[in-house]
Amino acid sequence: MDKRAIGVFDSGVGGLSCVPALKNALPNEQIIFYGDSARAPYGLRSESEIKQFALEDAKLLIDKGCKALSIACNTISCVALDELCSAFPDVPVVGIVEPAAEKLAELYRDENIALIATDATVKNGAYERALKKYGHCGRLFARACGNFVSPIEQGKTGPEFDTVIKESIGPLFEESGAKVLALGCTHFPFIAENLKRLYPDIALFNPADALAQKTKEILKARDMLSDEKAAEDIYLCSSQSDTFARFVSRIK
Ligand code: DGL
Repeated sequence: MDKRAIGVFDSGVGGLSCVPALKNALPNEQIIFYGDSARAPYGLRSESEIKQFALEDAKLLIDKGCKALSIACNTISCVALDELCSAFPDVPVVGIVEPAAEKLAELYRDENIALIATDATVKNGAYERALKKYGHCGRLFARACGNFVSPIEQGKTGPEFDTVIKESIGPLFEESGAKVLALGCTHFPFIAENLKRLYPDIALFNPADALAQKTKEILKARDMLSDEKAAEDIYLCSSQSDTFARFVSRIK
């Protein structure tokens, strides 16, 4: 048993989309969330920069006494998971891509899957590899939509943002025949309303539950779950923007 907090982090506000699922699956755990909004988007940066930033983010949370890290960021999970595990060998580090792909493969084994993610995630190919590993037999049709991240960070995603989405996604569903759209960037659940309006017949897959369940499974296996919440959750952000506070107030 371990009452220390779980560190949850992302390049910015996106990771907050995983917090409700984490709180739900792990009601006795304190969460310390860190969003690096000042340096977002990560998904348009080089792999070496993403790795460096991810190590700094993780260190900040470990210095605050976190017992484990749950990476609420697909880009960091694709690019920097190995570096994080090597840098902090005593701390369980849970990435979002593997559990997401495992669940997708279970739900849509023989079907084509559409994915939107950051440019770094699409380029990295981690979703393709993980889907194959978990027995997915259909094809993956991925679109890089890293340009969505800044407007989401700024909360500028009203109906006028639909045009940007349509232009970036293009004829993805006609081409793929996919009936599901995997949100391979944790910022994208915050444009779920836009996506539902544009593609009402397409199911949206949000990997938050998969991350939460995997985090629980790993802590349980190591006997590191807490039996009571030791303190209130803490939300930290590297930028001064009031958008972060607005996003946080929505999940409480
Ligand atoms: N939220 C992040 C993800 O899941 C990355 C967004 C970004 O900073 O580009 O990939």
